[in-house]
Amino acid sequence: MYEQVSHALLNDILDELSNEICRQDLRHFFTRLGANFYAIHSLFFHLYGHREDFKAQMVHLTERLARAYIDRPDVLKQIDMAREEDHNWFLGQQWVGMALYSDGFAGNLQGLKERLPYLQELGINMVHVMPILQCPRGASDGGYAISDFRNIDPRAGTVDDIRALADSMRRRDMLLTLDVVVNHTSNEHEWARRAQEGDHDYQNFYYCFPNRDVPDMFEATMPEIFPETAPGNFTWDESMGKWVMTVFNHYQWDLNYANPAVFIEMVDIILFWANQGADIVRLDAVAFLWKKIGTSCQNEREAHLILQLMKDCCQVVAPGVLFIAEAIVAPSEIIKYFGEDAVIAKECEIAYNATFMALLWDAVATKNAKLLNQGIKSLPNKLDRATWLNYLRCHDDIGLGFDDADIRACDYDPYSHRRFLVDWYTGAFAGSPARGRPFGVNLKTGDARIAGALASLAGLEAALEDNDEQAISEVVDLILMLHAMIMSFGGIPLIWYGDEIGTLNDNSFLEDSHKASDARWIHRPRIDWSRAERRHLNGTVERRIFEGIKRMISVRKDTPAFADFNNRELVDVENPHLFVFLRTHPSLAANSVLVVANFDTKPQYLDLETLNRRGLFRYGQITCLASGDSPAIFNNRVVVPPYHFYWLSNQRPGALFEDSFGAIPRRSLS
Ligand code: GLC
Ligand code: GLC
Repeated sequence: MYEQVSHALLNDILDELSNEICRQDLRHFFTRLGANFYAIHSLFFHLYGHREDFKAQMVHLTERLARAYIDRPDVLKQIDMAREEDHNWFLGQQWVGMALYSDGFAGNLQGLKERLPYLQELGINMVHVMPILQCPRGASDGGYAISDFRNIDPRAGTVDDIRALADSMRRRDMLLTLDVVVNHTSNEHEWARRAQEGDHDYQNFYYCFPNRDVPDMFEATMPEIFPETAPGNFTWDESMGKWVMTVFNHYQWDLNYANPAVFIEMVDIILFWANQGADIVRLDAVAFLWKKIGTSCQNEREAHLILQLMKDCCQVVAPGVLFIAEAIVAPSEIIKYFGEDAVIAKECEIAYNATFMALLWDAVATKNAKLLNQGIKSLPNKLDRATWLNYLRCHDDIGLGFDDADIRACDYDPYSHRRFLVDWYTGAFAGSPARGRPFGVNLKTGDARIAGALASLAGLEAALEDNDEQAISEVVDLILMLHAMIMSFGGIPLIWYGDEIGTLNDNSFLEDSHKASDARWIHRPRIDWSRAERRHLNGTVERRIFEGIKRMISVRKDTPAFADFNNRELVDVENPHLFVFLRTHPSLAANSVLVVANFDTKPQYLDLETLNRRGLFRYGQITCLASGDSPAIFNNRVVVPPYHFYWLSNQRPGALFEDSFGAIPRRSLS
């Protein structure tokens, strides 16, 4: 794309770059800058073009990008080039992730490096290390209140430790994911301190107001994120004598992206961590990046433009680095964080599939897949070169962000259905074995979310206490079936640390005054390595879960139909307890896989005859890839035991080119 205005500006900027920058070998940088400059300029102009210093800011940005490129280690530049050649590399089925707190998992970053073999034993090759940047000693929202974006918190280690970890992971073909908290800083960050000292330039990094006039306007339409512990969206700062916007906790100050200096700093920080060896950067709370009076201040168009601009800048310096969007918002909004177009308006390559996560928990509580089917049916197809992070649990709560229209389509009332789910998972509903806690209860709106460890929500804690072997066994099946869903849905499965050995709730947070009021700590465990050792003992819960997940991971890696090229077809079956979808192999229809899951506590059956008639799945000798067994079939009906799943294939070993599935659309890999 050649556009005169932006190109003329680029010429000027190149003239202004310092000699020191120009002496470097910047060939690849300049090709990428040329290719992206029209987009960078238009976006930057859209956001900041009204300012007198627009051109100076543009020069400043370009200079920062050039410096970041100069600092990028050669080994990472080579990886960038390899990934440019193989640009769909992250859509393959071989990637399986785990998210973990380095302290809870292994003490610190060095400990984590020593534990990499454990992760490899399970088959993990992507690790999201939860926030490790410097943050205040007391409450810091689990590391999401950052006081220094360029230093590792001494409790976790040093920048050298992260480089050593990245090196070690690279040698093991593992990907490193790090957080950059783009939406806010801690009130102890230097920018906030300078603002508190009265520096107007830094007050401009945040949203500061002398009185309640503007805050009251904002509050009229802004929801509360932590209504119990941090009601409202503004905090009075005594030293500044101003109200400052704090959407999350009162000590997390929202950054003002209407100020280009904030944008430039943040891009520089993203590139700094990319240069320390992060393969993937998780951008926290991206839905909140733009604030506008009269709106919910989430999912604003400018938030998307900022992300597009961040992506374009990152593509110039470190094109091999991917972004994860953490946008836990309505299903129709989440999908927009991939961008408007895979090439010219790209945002994040990866996004949390919060919709699928919450729908799976709905199916567990209701023992049927009605809403799950409905919700997935409403989920639009993604862009090309975009993929989901499919997860069951993470460090956060479970929000019941389904689409109300989908809930109604299943003949439930949205309010009472959500109420039922909260009651179910907090154990308030008679007969529920779940042991979660309510989180984010808002008495004004009636909203509530759920905290709790996967195993405890699924009923393992209750079954173990009752010493009920049959219940234990059922819950283990359920836990494995849920993992089978995130392994086969399409996207990168992300396991929450501890879930691979059935870790239960940890109530010790109640004794720590900085954590007690935030129930999410109940599911941020400290791994008990003696329990983890029990994965080697026959018959233990730890072994059944660990080995079950390990086997699924290894089968997933060998199953090309599980790569993510939007090659999934939801299959409507008459049985509401079953969730069924077909993963079509991109080029070999015969290698497609039919995924079947029974959310009921009773056996159910799947009618193969109807599938066959619709040309969906031609059966012959069918086997489950996960177990290697053939399921019981009677009168063309496959029996699906309670909490059981199948990955059905009718491919005979060696029959690679036989198209036995009938008319399945073939999609190309490009
Ligand atoms: C994200 C994080 C969450 C944190 C919030 C504020 O949603 O996942 O843990 O509380 O951002 O940083
Ligand atoms: C916000 C919170 C996070 C929560 C999400 C959905 O992003 O930070 O904790 O999971 O909203 O409720």
